[in-house]
Amino acid sequence: MFESLAQLPPDPILGLIAAYKQDPRPNKIDVGVGVYRDENGETPVLQSVKQAEQYLLASETSKAYVGPAGNPEFIAQMKKLILGSGHTALDRLALVQTPGGCGALRVAAELIKRAKAGARIWVSDPTWGNHIPLLGDAGVELVSYPYYNFSRHQICFDEMFSALKHVGKGDLVLFHACCHNPSGADLSQAQWQEITRLAEQQGFVPFIDMAYQGFGEGLDQDAYGIRLMCERLPEVLLAVSCSKNFGLYRERVGALALLSDQPQVASSHFANIVRGIYSMPPSHGASIVATILSDSSLEQQWRVELTQMRERIIAMRQCLVEKMKALGAGPRFAHIAAQQGMFSFLGITPTEVAALREQHAVYMVDTGRVSLAGLNDNNIDAFCSALQAVLIPSGGV
Ligand code: LMR
Repeated sequence: MFESLAQLPPDPILGLIAAYKQDPRPNKIDVGVGVYRDENGETPVLQSVKQAEQYLLASETSKAYVGPAGNPEFIAQMKKLILGSGHTALDRLALVQTPGGCGALRVAAELIKRAKAGARIWVSDPTWGNHIPLLGDAGVELVSYPYYNFSRHQICFDEMFSALKHVGKGDLVLFHACCHNPSGADLSQAQWQEITRLAEQQGFVPFIDMAYQGFGEGLDQDAYGIRLMCERLPEVLLAVSCSKNFGLYRERVGALALLSDQPQVASSHFANIVRGIYSMPPSHGASIVATILSDSSLEQQWRVELTQMRERIIAMRQCLVEKMKALGAGPRFAHIAAQQGMFSFLGITPTEVAALREQHAVYMVDTGRVSLAGLNDNNIDAFCSALQAVLIPSGGV
């Protein structure tokens, strides 16, 4: 029967990993997938993670099942990391450990379908490519709202706000807490306040995806919108990833949380949905996070490492803008220094993206989204020269 299935193209983001690996050119540059790289182009295991692993290796006494909800210490620590200790809504938050942020999104889709058949999720245009299959393939209808103006390289807040005025009770609006993927353009605090008032008026449920806490301005600043909405609104759905901020990509660590007046009811549905999809989450990554967050010196070390990652990306953003200016591109790339997180759109065409790949071994998503974490002092000159060359094929400036 399976001969009826046709060959599919590779995933637009993950397919780049394989293509890049196969490229024999020595000076190739990968600014495709959103994985942090240090100044040597490596994705090292954080020291805080290594220490937590050593502790776990010595102290773990069992590999018995963790249960559908996951590690209780992870659950307690993640609530505090997301909302901040002392937040008034902490006891209204139900949280379940999931296999990465993707697992959280998928469980969320099942929860939404159970809670209200026909509920729609409004997603930003553009949004992370995998939001569409993770949520849409699960059977929830997706509708898009305007978010980013590609010619002005900034959020089109007025259009976004006008569109969201038409969203009512029973629908959800998906926001990126920080480091918007793919644009890097984030809501200001004043804009979060306006959207929160709108959600109050309209009755829609915010569904906030936070995959990059700590990569924008800082752990607390990046959770501003979440904390505000959880303070003011009756219901908020949250999908969180520990892939980037703990560097635990392959360990698959994330969480889904629901703020409501019935956290125990929410927890019972989380457990039931998880049991029916993958039974229970993997343990190792969440144990690492729980170990780090429950030990003040390990936590401090992790915060320092997270700050280093964030500051390196910010430095690369600024460096790129300055170098392109020096090459004669003028202010064309200035938006990149004003945006945050791993990604920005260069604002180039798919043909220029293909030329970068074919002629210069520079790999990025076809939309022109770059992961700034792929740049370092050793490759940024080559990257900028290649970019300038594809923009002005004659080589003149
Ligand atoms: C990305 O957008 O590159 C990352 O979130 C990795 C992924 O799974 O797509």
